[in-house]
Amino acid sequence: MIPLVINLGERSYPVFIGRETLPELGLLLKEAGITGSILMVTDATVSGLYGESCRKYLESAGYSVTPFIMEPGEESKNTGMVGKVYDAAVEAGLDRSACVLALGGGVVGDLAGFAAATYLRGISFAQVPTTLLAQVDSSVGGKTGVNHPRGKNLIGAFHQPRLVFIDVAVLNSLPEREYRAGLAEVVKYGLIGDRQFFEWLEQNFEGLLARDPASLIYAVKASVQNKAAVVEADEKESGKRKILNLGHTFGHALEAAAGYKHYLHGEAVLIGMDMAVSLSEKLGLLDGEFAGRIKKLLRLSDFAPPPSGLTAAEVIQKLVYDKKREGEKTVFVLPSDRGEAVLYADPPENLIREVISRYIEK
Ligand SMILES: NC(=O)c1ccc[n+]([C@@H]2O[C@H](COP(=O)([O-])OP(=O)(O)OC[C@H]3O[C@@H](n4cnc5c(N)ncnc54)[C@H](O)[C@@H]3O)[C@@H](O)[C@H]2O)c1
Repeated sequence: MIPLVINLGERSYPVFIGRETLPELGLLLKEAGITGSILMVTDATVSGLYGESCRKYLESAGYSVTPFIMEPGEESKNTGMVGKVYDAAVEAGLDRSACVLALGGGVVGDLAGFAAATYLRGISFAQVPTTLLAQVDSSVGGKTGVNHPRGKNLIGAFHQPRLVFIDVAVLNSLPEREYRAGLAEVVKYGLIGDRQFFEWLEQNFEGLLARDPASLIYAVKASVQNKAAVVEADEKESGKRKILNLGHTFGHALEAAAGYKHYLHGEAVLIGMDMAVSLSEKLGLLDGEFAGRIKKLLRLSDFAPPPSGLTAAEVIQKLVYDKKREGEKTVFVLPSDRGEAVLYADPPENLIREVISRYIEK
């Protein structure tokens, strides 16, 4: 397999993308120079589906494997669970040659990566993402971390993996809702600078919805390539990397206003991107024809309805006032006519209100 390479100097690493390639995992880890034992961090659902086969392929390449299995879901992404990963690592006698391997979605990847970043001041880390969101977004780029009771992803570190291994065949078992939530992040890459990919998505979205293997491989590769270009230009998010947050300012506000229980992250981002398109059009950054095309594409995925009782004022509260209290600007990433995304701080509040109300009050 010929990998894509994330070029970050001495922290560069390969991303292998294929289908039904899991048997090759052990060999590729060897080629990446991983020599020590492996702590395989996963969740109970993924473990039940792929844990045993993954372990078998690693052991047949000569690795000693210690599994760590956590409860699935965002609730597990906390410092207490990281402590349990450290306990398992100490118990297994893992030394600095060891590698933490994340087998799962973004929750497993973020938590396992943070454990790898901090155990013995940092050991090797490998990502085997099993959700679409993790394959196209969270497994590449080195952001790791866990939640704090006061906020999401407040504790973390930048720690790049040594290897990312993507087998799109594992997506066949992903529940439809999780799959569609991941598609939102795929569409994002068509709106932040890759006009050709946008046009490809317009032509091939039905195939993607049907999980057509060739379409999936193409879309995952294009997404990873686009993410790589951004991460290579701005590894630690001091500037350009912020454009990856397209749809996230509105999306996070929706998630927070709905109490984090109602939407999957990608569902909120999808609606957030639609709002960003409307806002961009109102600000004159996007002409009506292109805005219409983007909206048509976004609406090929169904929008999750708002929870009953949610008001536009509650979303605006999360979006504007909470930030203002902290003295921050509210920065939006907006798609523009040039096919690229631009950053826009503190747009007029009446426009924000109109855009949110259109979704909430429909
Ligand atoms: N580090 C980053 O750059 C980055 C970027 C975006 C999101 N994130 C983080 O990612 C997390 C969300 O990730 P997610 O959407 O992958 O959620 P997740 O890890 O919770 O996975 C979603 C669900 O799918 C199940 N699952 C995973 N793979 C499966 C498979 N192949 N078949 C069947 N079921 C499967 C899981 O058990 C879980 O119940 C959030 O915590 C978010 O903060 C991180």
